[in-house]
Amino acid sequence: MTNAKHPDRPDLATRLAQPFGEGSGSITPPIYQTSLFGFEDFDSFADAMAGRNGLDIYTRVGNPTTRTFEEMMASAEQTDAAIGFASGMGAVSAVAFAFLKPGDRIAAVEHLYPDAYRLFERLLRPFGIHIDYHPVSAFEDDPDLMRGCRLAYLESPTSIMLQTADLARIAAHARRHDCLTVIDNSWATPVFQRPATLGIDVVLHSASKYISGHSDTVAGVVCTNQDLTDRIRDISLPLLGGKLAPFEAWLLIRGMRTLAARMQTHQATANLFVERLADLPHIIAVNTPDPGSVPGLDGRSGLLSVAFAPTIDMKAFVDGLSLFKPGVSWGGFESLVLPASVALGQKGEQNALQRFGVPASLVRLSLGLESSEDLWTDFTNAFHQAGSAQRVPVQHNKNGGNHETATDNTGRRVLASGDIGGGGHKPQAG
Ligand SMILES: Cc1ncc(COP(=O)(O)O)c(C=O)c1O
Repeated sequence: MTNAKHPDRPDLATRLAQPFGEGSGSITPPIYQTSLFGFEDFDSFADAMAGRNGLDIYTRVGNPTTRTFEEMMASAEQTDAAIGFASGMGAVSAVAFAFLKPGDRIAAVEHLYPDAYRLFERLLRPFGIHIDYHPVSAFEDDPDLMRGCRLAYLESPTSIMLQTADLARIAAHARRHDCLTVIDNSWATPVFQRPATLGIDVVLHSASKYISGHSDTVAGVVCTNQDLTDRIRDISLPLLGGKLAPFEAWLLIRGMRTLAARMQTHQATANLFVERLADLPHIIAVNTPDPGSVPGLDGRSGLLSVAFAPTIDMKAFVDGLSLFKPGVSWGGFESLVLPASVALGQKGEQNALQRFGVPASLVRLSLGLESSEDLWTDFTNAFHQAGSAQRVPVQHNKNGGNHETATDNTGRRVLASGDIGGGGHKPQAG
């Protein structure tokens, strides 16, 4: 099957399903489980060290299995190259340390992944980097928001609240101010959104999520053009050292084979939930971007959040579930539930959920690969047990959302701050 927009280019699903073809007949790549590579003689060793023959030297910097994964990711995201990291946070921090120096300014999205927020606040700010946070829609609406910024750190949709914006517009604004744009694309994956094709400079992932898909790997990846890849690689691998290991890369290659099919299944279940949640009482908001609600977003993943009315007892709901497990992270085959009240209560300093006002009545659902009807039955059984009968009109935040929304003069829904910011001390929700 070919891609309707690019007849010369096979569909992503087809490309990801291509057997490994290095001549042995093996359809899966070997795992080069080695820390170092030996050389035939002095000259080949010297040429490798001087960067003249491109041979691998040491797995912290390069390894064939890791490279196979990186090539698949670059092809999927339509970038020149990719670099694998030991975690999504390894990818985020590598990008930050490659491009920022004291005195620089970052414009970051509100509701960013909580540990990215902590990286910015605990490490970057004390190093003299200025950080301002804005709703993702502000990056789109204000052409001058990124003036004077070295880097714009984006998520679209954002974590937990799942707010989106027009990435092509943001990229155009950023270019006028010479600001580097970085996006965490873990939610959409290249199956549903390819930010580099919209003009975003650097696309990164927590590959621990949908890219892996099997909840057995912690990994990250950065996809970008050759020049930026060289700059990130130069500092991150030799000096920071958070390189993706060969076995993890092999697991990710296996995950990538089924990525397109898995995303379609996650989408079908998410669509079923969105449709039926609209008819359920005691639901105040469903946060999930509709496919096509912003240019370049072609699908809906299985991660969404739902705000319950106070009539629903969250603890009773979570304890009443049997297929959904309470847990952090997302994007695997299994369904998970993360109540915001639990994430708000995590130990540590103030986190992004508190800072940006995520309501405690919110619950994040990661819809897995189980039968959608079984998941719906499990959800509604627990939900009905946890509530009393009283109807509240449901609000579907098609661009993601928050409890309080208003409509702007174009009729488009705009976002306002949530109702419960929480006080106290706590961070992150995977
Ligand atoms: C949106 C997002 N980005 C980045 C990360 C960090 O990735 P990792 O856990 O692989 O370090 C996560 C983890 O949950 C995440 O949800």
